[in-house]
Amino acid sequence: METNEEKAMPRIGDRAPDFVSNSTIGDLRLSDYNQGSWVIFFSHPADFTPVCTTELSEFAREKEFFSSHHTKLLGLSIDSVHSHLAWVKNVKDNLDVYMDFPILADLDMSVAQKYGMMHPGESETAAVRAVFFIDPQGIIRLIMYYPLNVGRNMEEIKRVLVALQTADDCSCALPVNWSKGEKVIVPPPKTLKEMEQRINDTTSEKVDFYLVKKTLDITEYQKN
Ligand code: BEZ
Repeated sequence: METNEEKAMPRIGDRAPDFVSNSTIGDLRLSDYNQGSWVIFFSHPADFTPVCTTELSEFAREKEFFSSHHTKLLGLSIDSVHSHLAWVKNVKDNLDVYMDFPILADLDMSVAQKYGMMHPGESETAAVRAVFFIDPQGIIRLIMYYPLNVGRNMEEIKRVLVALQTADDCSCALPVNWSKGEKVIVPPPKTLKEMEQRINDTTSEKVDFYLVKKTLDITEYQKN
């Protein structure tokens, strides 16, 4: 029987619930691992399963992208460390990809419960495919949930990470299908003065005073 606390799911803007858990690099405390970095924390249903193998090997292939974006990877499933280690070795032998980011062995499901990764309607024993984007201040900034039978999209995971970092660095918002290099949305005016300035601005792409796009200056991209 689930308690209310177990049912509560962290939401965007919440502090990421802290934990210490056994993993493929030993005991890991989230708040230590998260110090000064973004963390992409993702669950997979089970080791030695085909969709999960394609996903986690792809995370490993993209490790340079993530490290160059100040981002650490962290996996989780309801499997033992022994199973994780055997799977990591198997994937290395078969696919020549080393999944050397930590993978939590959440056998008692305590971390998965804290993060709302258990969806009993989908499975009572396996975590769904969740992705939490946690910023360097430990705040959850974006959440994805996928069912057991559909793999995630690595390009979308990379795109939203860059979008979150760009929004922070440039105090802007990102329009539909935005990708790096495309115009960003200037926040709407908050005062009459800002609105008048915007109405008279001929340099930005303006649909109306509340929908204005601009190209970012190269220096605004420096951190990304
Ligand atoms: C898979 O990763 O292939 C998978 C895992 C659990 C259920 C269904 C598919």
